[in-house]
Amino acid sequence: MGEKARELAGKNVEKVLEELNRAYADEWLAFYQYWVTAKVLEGRFAGHVAGELKRLAMEELEHADELADRIVQLGGRPLAHPKHWLERSTCGYKEPAQDARDLDAAIRATIDGERCAISVYRKLADMTRESDYVTFQLIQHILEEELEHEDTFENLL
Ligand SMILES: [Fe+2]
Ligand SMILES: [Fe+2]
Repeated sequence: MGEKARELAGKNVEKVLEELNRAYADEWLAFYQYWVTAKVLEGRFAGHVAGELKRLAMEELEHADELADRIVQLGGRPLAHPKHWLERSTCGYKEPAQDARDLDAAIRATIDGERCAISVYRKLADMTRESDYVTFQLIQHILEEELEHEDTFENLL
């Protein structure tokens, strides 16, 4: 834990840690949802969608990594058991459709996930803008990537 990091993060650091951990849960679930969806998709245009899903999955994993580092810097502990991911997640988990050829379902589930992530990070940006500049910068960086993800998948519809 960084003592100065905590001090700089201001009075609402516990509330920020709570929300960072919720976002951390969302990122792991998004990573796995996109990764496993990419694995199971089939059909003529599946390759392109799967490639994009895999790219997003790796970026969500990177977000989880960045959030974990910030949580530790602030004296918190990243949710260390997967069962807590579903319990604490805001955006939840959407299992891939049984029909492996249903690209539309995969694309729509991804857009829903990205829109949810965008609202999570907007809330975190509002919470940290005035009080915790370092967390705010990280959130802004993640938010930019979530906006790009939404756009990419809207264009696949
Ligand atoms: Fe993400
Ligand atoms: Fe994303």
